[in-house]
Amino acid sequence: MGNKIIIAIDGYSSSGKSSMARALAAKIGYRYIDSGAMYRAVTLYAMRHGMIDADHNVDTRALTDALPDIHVDFDVTPDKQYTLLNGENVENEIRQLPVSNNVSPVAAIPAVRHYLVALQQAFGTEKGIVMDGRDIGTTVFPDAELKIFVNAPAETRAERRLKELQAKGNTVTYNEILANVKQRDHIDETRAESPLRRAADAIDFDNSAMSIDEQNAALLKLYNDTISC
Ligand code: DC
Repeated sequence: MGNKIIIAIDGYSSSGKSSMARALAAKIGYRYIDSGAMYRAVTLYAMRHGMIDADHNVDTRALTDALPDIHVDFDVTPDKQYTLLNGENVENEIRQLPVSNNVSPVAAIPAVRHYLVALQQAFGTEKGIVMDGRDIGTTVFPDAELKIFVNAPAETRAERRLKELQAKGNTVTYNEILANVKQRDHIDETRAESPLRRAADAIDFDNSAMSIDEQNAALLKLYNDTISC
C-alpha cells in the first residue's frame, strides 16, 4: 500500500502509549519502535559496566566513549518484539525497577540522545512506522504526519505500572511505583536536552477513562482520518 506515514506517539511514563502504539502498528501493518526501550538498553549497558553509582550518578565521559560499542536493535516475532543489546535479548531485564531507576539520568545525556535519535531516524526512512517516546513528535520526527500526546494522572499511571509488575511476579509497592513515576516525570520535563514536551501540532489524548479497546479504536480513527485527508 502506498502513502505510508510516520506516527509519533509521545507522553508520560506508563501512560499506556506503548500498548496503544504496538496495537495500532499491528492493526495497520506498520513497524513499531519503542524508543524508551533503546534508552533502557543503553542504561543496562552502563549499569553492567559500572558506569552508574548507587546515587544514580552516571559516568558521562565513560558512557559517551562507549556509545560506538552499544548496538541496540529489535527482534520481531509474529506476537512479540524483543529489545536486543549487542545481540542479546534484554527485553525482561530492561523493564525491571533497577533500570527504571537509572534510565532518566542516562536519557538526559546529550551524547546518548544524539546517538539514539540518529538510530531512531534511520528506522523511519521508509515511513510505515509507529514510534513512541518523549520527543518523537518534537525532535525525532518533527514532520510526522500524525502526532499524538498521551496523558493520564500520575496516580492512574502508577496503578497501571503496579498491576503490570505484579503480574510478572514482582513484589513492589504502590508508593514505590508512584515515587518512581513522579520522579521520572520531573526529570523528563526539566532536562535541558529534548525535554518531554507536547509538539504544537500534536493531538491531546487522555486515556484515563478509556478501556484498552476504546483507546485502540480512538487511535485507529485518528490514523484513518489522517490518511483520508
Ligand atoms: O517509556 P519508558 O518509560 O520506557 O522510557 C524510559 C525512559 O527513557 C524515560 O525515563 C524517558 C526516557 N525516554 C526519553 O527520554 N526519550 C524517549 N524518546 C523515550 C524515552
